Amino acid sequence: MTVTVQPTTPEFAAEVGDVDLGKPLSAADLAAIRAAFTKYAVLVFPNQTFSDESHLDFARHFGPLETSVFAIRSDHKMRLQPQLADVGNLDAEDRILKTDDRVRLYQLGNRLWHTDSSFKRLPAYCSILHGRSIPPIGGQTEFADMRAAYDALPEATKQQIAGLVAEHSLMTSRAKLGFSDFNDDERKAFEPVPQVLVRRLLDSGRMSLYVASHAGAIRGMAKPEAERLLKELIDHATQRQFVYTHRWRVNDLVMWDDRCTMHRGLEFDDQRYKRDMRRATVSDVAPTCEQMGLAVAAE
Ligand code: OGA
Ligand code: MN
Repeated sequence: MTVTVQPTTPEFAAEVGDVDLGKPLSAADLAAIRAAFTKYAVLVFPNQTFSDESHLDFARHFGPLETSVFAIRSDHKMRLQPQLADVGNLDAEDRILKTDDRVRLYQLGNRLWHTDSSFKRLPAYCSILHGRSIPPIGGQTEFADMRAAYDALPEATKQQIAGLVAEHSLMTSRAKLGFSDFNDDERKAFEPVPQVLVRRLLDSGRMSLYVASHAGAIRGMAKPEAERLLKELIDHATQRQFVYTHRWRVNDLVMWDDRCTMHRGLEFDDQRYKRDMRRATVSDVAPTCEQMGLAVAAE
């Protein structure tokens, strides 16, 4: 029996059953997952009780893995291995992070609409997040479909934004929260990078917006005008009709396409409940400007 794909929404999110990702995947199952992931940008695999190693092995089917941004800081004591992004609220000793902990304040950036690693020149293709321990209330993750949002734009806006290049930096999204506690290594690693505003997906051929709270400027456009356009596009893409809200169950594995979705974590009582979430992230095949055939000058 191969996997079963059960749509949650007509075109955006689906659940996948009849598969144990902790065991080696058959070629037929992998092909079925790939086909589902071309159509649905969010896949939910319930009840996956596997180790960090099998989590990473599953992710490797989709391309090379990224390294967590926390690895940049030599003084940061990591709870997980560097290829797993630690998006929970726990320290290296599994204790709840205190309210003034730098990591907790930094992680609040995940509450803003974003797509993972758009602040890297070679950004993410997909993210694969495992819920090890979840709060009983709150802490859902919302996803916005930037393909559907693009399709729904007025023709004039589509023409206005075609070929535009935005600058993304992790420091831009954190600045929106008043967070600026970065050391020299981080400042260097988080220099702004160029990303197209509109992209065509290589597999489905669909067009998609590509925006995030990491975006802060648009090349060749005055700053206030760029800020206004970026806000308008993010507001447009996150209207309810484009959003799927995921209520986590323990051992859900959720996989999303970072090329064409934004996501954000919702609030929960993070001083009362443990939320242990581990993310493997797969790199895209080429920088977005390259994929769209745009030659981009260095800054
Ligand atoms: C992430 C992320 C949000 C959440 O894992 O990249 O932004 O709800 N997570 O944990
Ligand atoms: Mn994220």
